[in-house]
Amino acid sequence: MKHQVPIVITSLGAATKVTEAVHSYGGLVFHDVTNQKHARKAAEAGVDGIIAVSAGAGGHAGIINPFVLVHEIREVFEGVILLAGGLSKGEDILAAQAMGADLCYLGTRFINTTESRAEAAYQNMIIEAVSGDIIHTPAVSGIPANFMRQSLEAAGYPMDKLNQAGELNYGDKLKPVDDEAKAWKTVWSAGQGVSQITDVVSVSDLVGRIGDEYRRARARLCE
Ligand SMILES: Cc1cc2nc3c(=O)[nH]c(=O)nc-3n(C[C@H](O)[C@H](O)[C@H](O)COP(=O)(O)O)c2cc1C
Repeated sequence: MKHQVPIVITSLGAATKVTEAVHSYGGLVFHDVTNQKHARKAAEAGVDGIIAVSAGAGGHAGIINPFVLVHEIREVFEGVILLAGGLSKGEDILAAQAMGADLCYLGTRFINTTESRAEAAYQNMIIEAVSGDIIHTPAVSGIPANFMRQSLEAAGYPMDKLNQAGELNYGDKLKPVDDEAKAWKTVWSAGQGVSQITDVVSVSDLVGRIGDEYRRARARLCE
């Protein structure tokens, strides 16, 4: 409130208190959800936008297909919908708009930029990884999130247990990590879009490229 942050992103529980405070100075609240139940709660809390964190996203990803998730959220929410999860190219953004999203969120793609503070080994792992390397597990942070197999292996996580969902308790950590921030630094998160990432470029070049891809895709559709 002191800094009047124009857009505030919340996750893990939409709070009316937060939306009221941000709205009092004219700011906007966008809230992360992974299913319709939480979208309904966010709508009730008065958020301005809902971020549909679909299957395959980096970080605390959901498990619902993006086509289904966007429609389910639209059923209960009239505001701005932002689609997140596996988007890497301009044509992905056009497709998201076609299916009803207003805006898009790209996370993993921006880890591989020169401005990113991710270390080179993290960026190289993203270049080498494919979608099949992304493991959705609550083991690192207590809440299901996507991590690269190579990084989990390097950190010594028991891979057989991570793959057996039945043995996992949501909220339980297989390997206790007291410091959440330290966990995310040690084990590298990424989304399934890694398979489309083959380089490290500046944000400016990347945004220019995505714009070109978007315009080419739109022209192709209009032919
Ligand atoms: C390393 C990493 C850390 C993230 N941390 C957060 C976070 O603290 N808060 C949040 O709302 N989303 C976080 N995200 C999720 C992104 O905001 C975004 O929803 C996601 O990266 C989109 O999917 P994509 O990575 O497939 O593009 C994180 C994602 C990654 C890859």
